[in-house]
Amino acid sequence: MSAPSTGKFGSRIGFILAAAGSAIGLGNIWRFPYTAGENGGAAFVLVYLGFVALIGIPVLLAELSIGRASGKNPVGAFETLDPKRGSKWPWVGSLGVLTGFGILSFYSVIAGWTLSYLWRALSGEFASAMSPEQSDVIFKQIISSPVEVVVMAGVFLLLTAVVVRGGVSGGIERAAKVLMPMFFVVLLVLAVRALTLPGGGAGVTFLFEPDFSKLSGAAVMSALGQALFSLSLGMGAMITYGSYLQKQEPLGLAGVSVALFDTAIAVLAGLIIFPALFSVGAEPSAGPGLVFVAMPAIFDQLPMGTAFGVAFYALLAVAALTSTISLLEVVVAYLVGERGWNREKAVWVVTGTCFLLAIPSALSQGAVDIQLFGQSFLDLMNILFGNVSLSLGALLIAVFAGWRWGADKALAEMKGMPMGGLWAVAIRYVCPLAIAGIMIYILVTGNFF
Ligand code: PHE
Repeated sequence: MSAPSTGKFGSRIGFILAAAGSAIGLGNIWRFPYTAGENGGAAFVLVYLGFVALIGIPVLLAELSIGRASGKNPVGAFETLDPKRGSKWPWVGSLGVLTGFGILSFYSVIAGWTLSYLWRALSGEFASAMSPEQSDVIFKQIISSPVEVVVMAGVFLLLTAVVVRGGVSGGIERAAKVLMPMFFVVLLVLAVRALTLPGGGAGVTFLFEPDFSKLSGAAVMSALGQALFSLSLGMGAMITYGSYLQKQEPLGLAGVSVALFDTAIAVLAGLIIFPALFSVGAEPSAGPGLVFVAMPAIFDQLPMGTAFGVAFYALLAVAALTSTISLLEVVVAYLVGERGWNREKAVWVVTGTCFLLAIPSALSQGAVDIQLFGQSFLDLMNILFGNVSLSLGALLIAVFAGWRWGADKALAEMKGMPMGGLWAVAIRYVCPLAIAGIMIYILVTGNFF
């Protein structure tokens, strides 16, 4: 095994692919479709797209600038850019590190399910036509098997640890370069097949014809959470990756391409899953199992279905891996940069404790009844860390970049940002007001879930 090393990304395309690798993952393929399905479809999707443009892209550019200007992990970044003694801003970084740890704990459980499906696809289980009921039985069987879910989450964390141990330019960049484009191609083929399934058109309608009466306050909050989660924002992942970016690279185009790529993949996933669901007459509001129950309906409709099934789950696992890598990297970069740990120790201690926190999430989906506030442990982690904490983090990052550090300094760091004035307005006014408004509304109405 190579010696632990960190360093800068070797090339601009390497950086774009690594950042896109962080952004593209289960958030696009698993979380986006089921959240859209639960929240009524098109109206949610439109609000989500609006948030990507108005909040996601500006905050992404802010995080990348903060990261590169400071060259530090999220905590060190705020310390460096706001060097006043007793500054409270580094707490935003600490919240991010904690959030990264929390997300990693439940994300690795879903990634573990992907490995279970990969295994079943390899054994030819999806080769023959499968009704939604049969597919559901398999799903329930997997997620309620206590040993399987815990072991698979553990295996996934272990894979993540091995790559992060190797450092950014070694592991992350190399893996992302080849596999992300491959994933895109497989998704395109699956979308073409799903869209031509009989009855698939209803899926497109569901995704694009909005009925705004279905839009609740909680749905707007979920759309904001989803936009941030999907772009890996609000917890310092993009601050950390920005710190590994070469000084002379212009940030604007790189950031915007990552956001567009990520959003395109989410929409593409929707164009696979909803047509597939509607063609077999299944419900879009099935919750976190949606993708896992929907996908087997497509594979047997394709020539070489088994091969497509295997490729889909394998590449989804890789996409999830490039995201878990970025989550673990945030915590490790903090322990190495601020606490003086060596990389090796940081990787193993964080992975081990994260595994312990993953266990209740893994078991909460059917193996054991673990509920808090009427939510399963996994759902609760997903809402707390994946929606609430990211929204708070993004709000504070926007205020920091726009007002404390200063929009002009951030713009200078971006090195020639087209429409920089627009960015400044977004980061100073639009992002803080919109995010704070949504959070206050949710707090006042108590409409959390
Ligand atoms: N963006 C990743 C996904 O969509 C998840 C993630 C969130 C990764 C936050 C890093 C930080 O799958």
